[in-house]
Amino acid sequence: MFNRRNFLRTASVLSAMSFAEMEAMAAMQSVKADKPIAKDDEKYWQNVRQLFPLSKDFTYLNNGTMGPSPYPVIEAVKNGMMDGDHHGGYGGWENTAKKLAAFVGADENEIALTHNVTDGINIGCWGVPLRKGDEVILTTHEHVGNAFPWLNRRKLHGIVIKTFTPASTAAATLERIEALITNRTRVIAVPHIPCTQGQILPVKEICTLARERNIYSIIDGAHGPGMLMLDLHDMGCDTYASCCHKWMLGPKGTGFIYVRKDFQQILQTYFVGGGSDNGKWDMALETPKMGKYADSAHRYYGGTQASGLYKGVDAAIDFIETIGMENIHNRIKYLGNYTQQQLLILGDRVELITPTEDRSHCAVNGFRIKGIEYTKFYDQCAASKIRIRSVAENGLNSLRVSTHIYNNTNEIDMLIAEIKKAIS
Ligand SMILES: Cc1ncc(COP(=O)(O)O)c(C=O)c1O
Repeated sequence: MFNRRNFLRTASVLSAMSFAEMEAMAAMQSVKADKPIAKDDEKYWQNVRQLFPLSKDFTYLNNGTMGPSPYPVIEAVKNGMMDGDHHGGYGGWENTAKKLAAFVGADENEIALTHNVTDGINIGCWGVPLRKGDEVILTTHEHVGNAFPWLNRRKLHGIVIKTFTPASTAAATLERIEALITNRTRVIAVPHIPCTQGQILPVKEICTLARERNIYSIIDGAHGPGMLMLDLHDMGCDTYASCCHKWMLGPKGTGFIYVRKDFQQILQTYFVGGGSDNGKWDMALETPKMGKYADSAHRYYGGTQASGLYKGVDAAIDFIETIGMENIHNRIKYLGNYTQQQLLILGDRVELITPTEDRSHCAVNGFRIKGIEYTKFYDQCAASKIRIRSVAENGLNSLRVSTHIYNNTNEIDMLIAEIKKAIS
């Protein structure tokens, strides 16, 4: 309703906003979805694409490495920093932990803020009580961020690492894990979605199996939030480390770890400071007193955080919720299915290495071209301004294509045309 009071209120809000911020808000209104959006409603998804500053000069099919942020996120970071620099604003990041908790199906006191996935994995890896000879199960498809911390603990503490290669079905993967379990197994530390070929592992069943055998489940969740609808309580993991930039499209250098409330009594914290305490420490006593750790996952992080970046994380969650997480999931699953179909019809020369089982794949696909070095095809794509990822990890020598809501089927067709060119 238009009246003087509403007008003045709106005008005073607008006057505090930059032009770019107003534009970002108006654009957000254009993609606000109060209802299910068809996964192939190209007009709608093209509007979404307009919200990203991604260059139109090349085709970006590598969200698995870096999720570009949309304008509203970038604006929020800038304004978050301005707030500090204008008014001396400080703090507020605990609000982000609360927002993240709601986004991933956790409680506020179970989320610690980190800078990336690697930080979170190290919190889990170092904190879990392990002795020489204790066994930890990982995959042969690890990212360095989940391999190196455990290899380091093996070097320093003599733990034993056992590995399995993810199978083409969830059931067969579970069997492989079960076959590795012995009475010395203490941890299953696997990725929800390995970086190599984007296969979704059956984490809920893995965590249930772990719980039944008194084994801790420490999950590398780099690719879960923003790609899949998450409910970490339902998943039943002990920890889940992720970042806010890949599929959540937030600022780079932001992340979090979920630590199940009861598990906080077991997972030792090491890097502590302001916020990790319960406020009862006192250095002025003859024998300085420590008090206790915070009665929450805040015990795993301390000190000043980048307020601007966390305002960007808040905006990324708002952005996702404006479009709707289910709409986003359906769109990226659709693009992932399309990629698989197009790769499969290319014939024997092209090997899709991501499972086709419905529950085991979404937005990321891996492939090889027989007779063509993976680095050579990567270079061919780069020359044609198509950005994919080469996968050298663990001798896989393959290629990876990952698509998000700013992509469309035409861009996948451009990659397919490059493959046809290479094999013709
Ligand atoms: C599966 C997986 N784990 C861990 C990481 C490390 O993430 P970060 O660089 O945020 O620490 C990545 C990054 O691509 C990844 O794909």
